Amino acid sequence: MSEIKKIKEEYLLRLDKVLDQYKLNEIKTELFGKNGIISNKFKQLGSIDEDKRKEFASELNVLKNELQDLILKKNENIQNQEINKKLKDDNIDVTLPGRSYFAGKIHPVSQVIDEVTSIFSEIGFSVEEGPDVESEYYNFSALNTPENHPARDMHDTFYLHHSKDFLLRTHTSPVQIRTMLKSKPPFKIIAPGRTYRCDSDQTHSPMFHQLEGLHIDKNINMGHLKGCLYYFVKKFFEVDKVKIRFRPSHFPFTEPSAEVDIGYKIQNGKIKIGEGNKWLEILGCGMVHPNVLKNVKVNPKKYQGYAFGVGIDRLAMLKYGINDLRAFFENDIRWLEFYGFDPLDVPTNYRGLSR
Ligand code: DAH
Repeated sequence: MSEIKKIKEEYLLRLDKVLDQYKLNEIKTELFGKNGIISNKFKQLGSIDEDKRKEFASELNVLKNELQDLILKKNENIQNQEINKKLKDDNIDVTLPGRSYFAGKIHPVSQVIDEVTSIFSEIGFSVEEGPDVESEYYNFSALNTPENHPARDMHDTFYLHHSKDFLLRTHTSPVQIRTMLKSKPPFKIIAPGRTYRCDSDQTHSPMFHQLEGLHIDKNINMGHLKGCLYYFVKKFFEVDKVKIRFRPSHFPFTEPSAEVDIGYKIQNGKIKIGEGNKWLEILGCGMVHPNVLKNVKVNPKKYQGYAFGVGIDRLAMLKYGINDLRAFFENDIRWLEFYGFDPLDVPTNYRGLSR
């Protein structure tokens, strides 16, 4: 029997028995791979006597085509078998009712923290955090708040273990101190977080949220503070024009100090920010007091800057039309279903507070 015939018989038999793609590929490589039987035969053509070469070449070509066709067909068969098997095994009953699932919602407070953080990070503020349990020093003394200041009153502050040294922070301002103590100026940070005061009614909750801002550098002045707050309010309330009023005020850690009101009106029962002639207080701010800078070993003759503190819950209530602060913390899943946000819409650059 000729060599070609032998190859043919052997491979027809083997191909007939092949049941899967893996085996088929193996045979394909054996025949047509770089060192395959058929490929090698073609390479040998040159060394065959001229009178036999033509016949051999044509026989080889016929065999090559035959085997290639067979492999193609086999391939198709195997694929069809696999699809049929899959269809048979995956017995899907399309008449069954769908499975219900529960998609969680982002709490409005977390949503606002995300929004505010992304707004300030666009203009170079980075995020800092501090502990909820603070020492009296960071919460008050270092912030130039003297021993007899009314803010230290037992009625306002939650002290721990009947001690005057440790307390639940009454504001996020201690993060200013912690930040300035751990590195060197310039500082440009925001600090969102939980704060606590002994107070509870429709607009006050014993636990609430604040956002602290601090910008210290050479030659920072009140103009920078105004520019920063205008930018923030416009971005946050998504309006082109805002009316902002700086009212002189007093905070121990700033001089001068101001409270900031934004203009609004009520239209069709809804609050409209940036128009009208009513005023609403949204934050406290000022130029950082030289004593605070001295307490953290920053030279007030060389460096100065501004700070501000905003109520985050207040911002959420205003922007999203929520009128009772207590509902924020009652953990009513129906409330969250209604006022919460789709997790896929949240800006991703702040992941600090646990949700
Ligand atoms: N810590 C103040 C409060 O809780 C708010 C505040 C006012 C923060 C002025 C500041 C500031 O940083 O400069 O009432």
